[in-house]
Amino acid sequence: MADDDVLKTAVRLGTSVDALAALAAHLRLQTEHLPADPAVRDLLTAIATELVGDAAPHSSTAAPTIGLARTFLRQAAELVENPGRSGGWDQVDVPLLQSVGRLSMGISAAVLAAERRLPDLGDRLGAADARFLDVGTGTGWLAIAIAQSHPALHVVGVDIFEPALDLARANVDGAGLGSRIELRLQDAALLDEPNGYDAIWLALPFLPKAVVVPIVTAATRSLKPGGWLLPGTFTGPGDRLSELLTDLRTVRSGGHPWRPEEIIDLMAAAGLTDAQEIPRSWPAPVRLYAGLRR
Ligand SMILES: C[S@@+](CC[C@H](N)C(=O)[O-])C[C@H]1O[C@@H](n2cnc3c(N)ncnc32)[C@H](O)[C@@H]1O
Repeated sequence: MADDDVLKTAVRLGTSVDALAALAAHLRLQTEHLPADPAVRDLLTAIATELVGDAAPHSSTAAPTIGLARTFLRQAAELVENPGRSGGWDQVDVPLLQSVGRLSMGISAAVLAAERRLPDLGDRLGAADARFLDVGTGTGWLAIAIAQSHPALHVVGVDIFEPALDLARANVDGAGLGSRIELRLQDAALLDEPNGYDAIWLALPFLPKAVVVPIVTAATRSLKPGGWLLPGTFTGPGDRLSELLTDLRTVRSGGHPWRPEEIIDLMAAAGLTDAQEIPRSWPAPVRLYAGLRR
């Protein structure tokens, strides 16, 4: 490949980076009512119209979209600065932690899709004694989104990363959900709550490969009979380049790029039945799987 081709490719890709940043900036101006230079505001509006049309943004779409832009742009800059670092999730970049959390709020739409597909999950999560476990709760934003969409639900969030849990406590208090969301510093591999939960979400991209089997085993034990394990992975638009980029994001987050059939096998090996992928009907870039504890 000629040097010119490399630079030409970079120029073309740079447009996508700028476009993502401009869309997020436009959504922030619209939904957070921020002051703006009129010339900049007009250009951002024109760019957003070019990208997604001129419908007014809804706050439920704007928050995960802004979260995605902040996450991808920050992680992209960090990748260029530290191209060779190995995977892990121990950086204390507060805006990154918060934006990953905001992005993960979109997973609540995936859980609602699972409720429409899986027998009984919706009834369970709507019951007065319903309990949901968020493994890898981070800054607590997914726990908050799940509690908001399920008014009776008691949510427990566990994490091994105290700096994220500090943020989660403030986020949960700010959302007024302190009475329904319990946060704990706990390794999910050491979960010991037999028959404790109606559903358990596992954020697989942040769990090192070696701990996944112990965590799936402990989580399976912690489900009520009839409860569902809901592991999720990152995904993208589906072409070869986006698959490679998704794998890179997963590996740099500390996780293993599991293939769908491996996840189904993992759940079956832990004794879960009806293991399946939930067909994706939500915009958040995640795949969701489910397995039933009989
Ligand atoms: C980045 S969060 C996912 C986003 C989250 N939903 C939010 O709202 O911020 C994933 C978390 O998994 C946590 N994690 C990794 N290994 C874990 C383990 N063995 N037990 C519990 N949490 C773990 C990481 O510390 C990280 O905070």
